[in-house]
Amino acid sequence: MLRELFLLFTCMAWVEFAIHFSPWIKNISQNVEIYTPTTFQYPVSLNTYNGEHTRLLQNLQRSSGKWDSTHPRHRLLTALHGYTCYKDKSLAEVDKWRNLYKNVPKRQRTLLESTIHYTRKINTIEHLLDTNAKLSRSMVDYGLSFYNISQSELDEFIKESESQQRSADRTSVSQGMKHFVRDWADEGHEERQQSFGCILNSLAQMPRTKERPLRVLLPGSGLGRLAHEVDKLGGFDVTMNEWSAYMNLAYRYVSSLSVPNSVQFHPYIDWWSHHATTDDLQRSITFPDEVIHPSSVLLVEGDFTTVFAEHTGLYDIIVTLFFIDTARNLITYLETIHRLLRPGGRWVNLGPLLYGTAPFVQLSLDEIVALSASMGFEFQETDPAIGNVTLSGLPVRGLEVAYGRNGRGLNKNAYQAQYWEAVKR
Ligand SMILES: C[S@@+](CC[C@H](N)C(=O)[O-])C[C@H]1O[C@@H](n2cnc3c(N)ncnc32)[C@H](O)[C@@H]1O
Ligand SMILES: *[C@@H]1O[C@H](CO)[C@@H](O)[C@H](O)[C@H]1NC(C)=O
Ligand SMILES: *[C@@H]1O[C@H](CO)[C@@H](O)[C@H](O)[C@H]1NC(C)=O
Ligand SMILES: *[C@@H]1O[C@H](CO)[C@@H](O)[C@H](O)[C@H]1NC(C)=O
Repeated sequence: MLRELFLLFTCMAWVEFAIHFSPWIKNISQNVEIYTPTTFQYPVSLNTYNGEHTRLLQNLQRSSGKWDSTHPRHRLLTALHGYTCYKDKSLAEVDKWRNLYKNVPKRQRTLLESTIHYTRKINTIEHLLDTNAKLSRSMVDYGLSFYNISQSELDEFIKESESQQRSADRTSVSQGMKHFVRDWADEGHEERQQSFGCILNSLAQMPRTKERPLRVLLPGSGLGRLAHEVDKLGGFDVTMNEWSAYMNLAYRYVSSLSVPNSVQFHPYIDWWSHHATTDDLQRSITFPDEVIHPSSVLLVEGDFTTVFAEHTGLYDIIVTLFFIDTARNLITYLETIHRLLRPGGRWVNLGPLLYGTAPFVQLSLDEIVALSASMGFEFQETDPAIGNVTLSGLPVRGLEVAYGRNGRGLNKNAYQAQYWEAVKR
């Protein structure tokens, strides 16, 4: 009943919007959707999967742009370096734990060994690392072929990096791999439900036809599950965008898999806090829970604020999930969202305000709403079932969602994420 009410509500809000401002008119009496052409024209067409791959490979050429650490090929090689060194880096960490254990007086160690077999635990973890290392090796292998990079070029890059004391980044690698759980494992199902539910319900209600699908853009899409869920709704032309080469390597790898749950790894062995049992700590996760067709969603790699220079007014919908707070310059993000939407297009947001390192500005929710409104976004009423209004008088709703949570962990970190929909005027 609640769900019916919910759907009716979002449907009505959207239809009202459609009649006044959109070229899309839903013929409610027939329950069919009719595209009513207006003077509005899409400026350019979206790229195809193959076209995008060609563009990407060209972009990755050393000769395109200045060769420094911000060059896309440099960033990709840095991530490949990271995944290549996963095993060595992790073994070094285990060695550190083994050495720390030596500080425990012998009498206490004897007790630990006879009761909980601590040395055996360390050895087991070390052994399980092999499985993860095999996965990271497969990711590198697939990446090399997808991006047309030779092993010798990577070897050369690694040699040079290490000689300049640029060591592999273990955290980004571990984060990239943990996202397999959030996006592509059964274990991430509940977490995905929490975040995706309100977004997908809203999009599902938007009037559209197969002939004239709505164009959706998802910047900062991580491993792309939400983008593929939107695609599954039908009637959407989905583009996702991600800047991190660590994430993109992981996504390219997932989209290459053709057998469900064919890959397994141990996502939790690198952090020993918050485990109820050592079995939990050591357990394996399989993925992907679903096989995807890589070309069903277009991934455009690069910085959201610059790669879509030619896509002004191209999108009907932009969905930002756990994204806007990643900005160095939040105002540039808002301007980019506004520019890329067509007039009457809709921005759907869900996420916290967790500012990263050295953002130029750090705004509170009320400030973001005020700023967005002044830039030409009109905030819309949304379904009360999504969550309570956070600030009275503002149609922004809060809901508790987890991000990258270990479902069996003893910690329960969650965000009071903020949901809103705003229409570009
Ligand atoms: C907190 S994660 C969220 C990922 C995904 N939306 C999810 O919910 O799982 C934010 C993502 O935004 C990406 N990102 C940060 N700045 C970006 C930019 N300028 N352009 C595109 N992606 C960016 C990061 O690499 C990261 O993957
Ligand atoms: C909607 O359907 C009704 C009944 O078939 C029809 O009379 C009407 O013209 C349609 N409206 C539009 C906008 O096409
Ligand atoms: C792949 O790289 C090789 C050598 O670096 C180059 O000759 C070839 O044209 C590239 N292929 C594509 C499809 O870009
Ligand atoms: C909304 O607020 C009511 C009353 O304060 C509270 O009982 C309820 O749990 C809240 N709902 C959510 C989803 O936070």
